[in-house]
Amino acid sequence: MAHRMATESTKPVVAVYPGSFDPVTNGHLDLIARAAMIFDRLIVAIARNLEKDPLFGVKERVEMLEAVTFDWKNVEVDVFDGLLMDYAREKNARVVVRGIRAISDYEYELQMAMMNRKIEPQIETVFMLPAEQYSYLSSRLVKELARLGAPVVKDLVPPLVGDRLRAKVG
Ligand code: PNS
Repeated sequence: MAHRMATESTKPVVAVYPGSFDPVTNGHLDLIARAAMIFDRLIVAIARNLEKDPLFGVKERVEMLEAVTFDWKNVEVDVFDGLLMDYAREKNARVVVRGIRAISDYEYELQMAMMNRKIEPQIETVFMLPAEQYSYLSSRLVKELARLGAPVVKDLVPPLVGDRLRAKVG
């Protein structure tokens, strides 16, 4: 075990940051910035979530994420179908990153992390905290505010996402 740990620690650590990103917010970006500083390679993985009815198509979500993460050379954007753990394994990821804003996120995240650990015990879920000013921010609320024409949206998402939101629901 000691030997295995020693050899593994020299390998670049790949992390997957999964989510719907419908659309990417400043809170997501804050987390991406923090995770990109810790892990060698960060794959932001958009779930082709069939249960939810997304506002933005997968292609649009990829375009927005690619544009706003362009400056981080160790960050890439991808799309996955099916089980997150199958995808993470396929990418040789050691870590899944999830953001926790408030204690209310914790129960669902704990359930998911434990289930994912049962599926693949070799991959760790790492919870990260976004900056305090994003602790109330969610894609769902951003979409609602955009639909209702609230001007605060521009402070909550990157400018490019704000433009796309306005074009979509304005
Ligand atoms: O940003 P979200 O919508 O909270 O992200 C949820 C996501 C996409 C991470 C989660 O639904 C997921 O992992 N879906 C893939 C299917 C899967 O692996 N389900 C089992 C989870 S225990």
